[in-house]
Amino acid sequence: MSKDVYRLIGPGGNEMELPIRTGTAGPDVIDIGALYKTKGVFTYDPGFVSTGSCESDITFIDGEKGVLMYRGYPVEQLAEHSSFLEVSYLLLHGDLPTASEIEKFEQTIRRHTMLNEGMLNFFKGFRYDAHPMAMLSAVVGSMSAYYHNVMDASNPEHRDIFAHRILAKLPTIAAAAYKLNIGQPFIYPRNDLNYSENLLHMLFAVPAEPYEIDEVASEALDLLFILHADHEQNCSTSTVRMAGSSGANPYSAIAAGISALWGPAHGGANEAVLEMLEQIGDTSQIKKYVEKAKDKSDPFRLMGFGHRVYKNFDPRATIIQDMCHKVLQRLDRKDTPLFDLAQELEQVALKDDYFIEKNLYPNVDFYSGIIYKALGIPTSMFTVMFALGRSVGWAAHWREMIADPAAKIARPRQLYTGPAQRNYTPIEKR
Ligand code: ACO
Repeated sequence: MSKDVYRLIGPGGNEMELPIRTGTAGPDVIDIGALYKTKGVFTYDPGFVSTGSCESDITFIDGEKGVLMYRGYPVEQLAEHSSFLEVSYLLLHGDLPTASEIEKFEQTIRRHTMLNEGMLNFFKGFRYDAHPMAMLSAVVGSMSAYYHNVMDASNPEHRDIFAHRILAKLPTIAAAAYKLNIGQPFIYPRNDLNYSENLLHMLFAVPAEPYEIDEVASEALDLLFILHADHEQNCSTSTVRMAGSSGANPYSAIAAGISALWGPAHGGANEAVLEMLEQIGDTSQIKKYVEKAKDKSDPFRLMGFGHRVYKNFDPRATIIQDMCHKVLQRLDRKDTPLFDLAQELEQVALKDDYFIEKNLYPNVDFYSGIIYKALGIPTSMFTVMFALGRSVGWAAHWREMIADPAAKIARPRQLYTGPAQRNYTPIEKR
């Protein structure tokens, strides 16, 4: 939808009108698509702080008001009433499913949980201590070898099967990576269990004895997956879109997204938060570490604090904090020093002028790691858990991009600051 125009006045009073586009919510955007062609200039926006890269009807965030909505539904409502697979259906198809639609969808996901046996051989090649995110990215990348000739991106049915495979097989790959790390045999999926129960089974069951699934643990995981399911054009999702925009096999695009998620400024923050809390050690050290975080000459940052978009509060952090209490209480965990430490650190930082002025609040990752730890999931698997939740968002965005007639290969421009043209000097004259 177009309403008004922006008037750009360049050198010598040279004027240009730029169309303004208005979405259903959020700030208007100035369409600069014709800028280079008509005026010969690029825009400059490192980190895409003010740049919209696409049109999307999947997820909306209002960073000032702390709003997150999937397909128009506030995340708080979905967290209270929905399940991860229902949210996945919503993200992929645009509307909440009917009873028969969700039954069929759940059945489809259950039927795709097994891996091609050949894929398990990859795990034999990794060192026992390989990071599970590296294994996840590599094995998901290998899916492009298994599903290359059968993946025609222009075929909507193939796009659906791709989304189902990603959603269903990632937990199996994640659990296999974990089992390799701890030297236990790989556990096959059980299709009678729901998504989170099946993941717990594959992570914690052993062939030697029965494994009882903890209802609280599966409820907590399901909630975390809902909260991580999508977050519009974040770093990993933009990576998936960018890699996929060249027409690359979508499984490779997801592998690229997993790699992007791993960084500590993005999904790797949940692992970094736990490491930071362990480094701080006890509440007497909080002041010292808060001062370090404020010191520009010190690279230390309060992990789990701050967000590119949320400048008031992260709605996911509020929901997670409540779940954190519930999990620790219901699992009857008395030894919660890290949680106590996290709560006190949060309070100190929230009252500190530096954090107030810069709008730095706890983000989703500040508490998620504490829940994972209470569930017995090791620190190195935290970002993998994030990837499982986000996998459906990546698939939904890839599908949206591929089906969008306006989509082009993503190809940013630059401000070149290297040497101007110079002539080649023979080696003996250098
Ligand atoms: N601790 C201390 N200072 C911080 C922190 C922090 N966690 N986060 C930001 N700041 C400061 C910066 O030093 C900067 O100060 P300056 O303006 O004086 O230079 C200012 O706040 C703005 O920070 P930027 O890094 O410029 O903000 P940006 O939007 O680029 O980064 C980010 C956001 C990467 C999340 C950042 O806040 C950060 O590194 N946080 C810690 C890592 C983390 O928790 N990441 C998870 C993000 S949520 C997710 O991916 C699910």
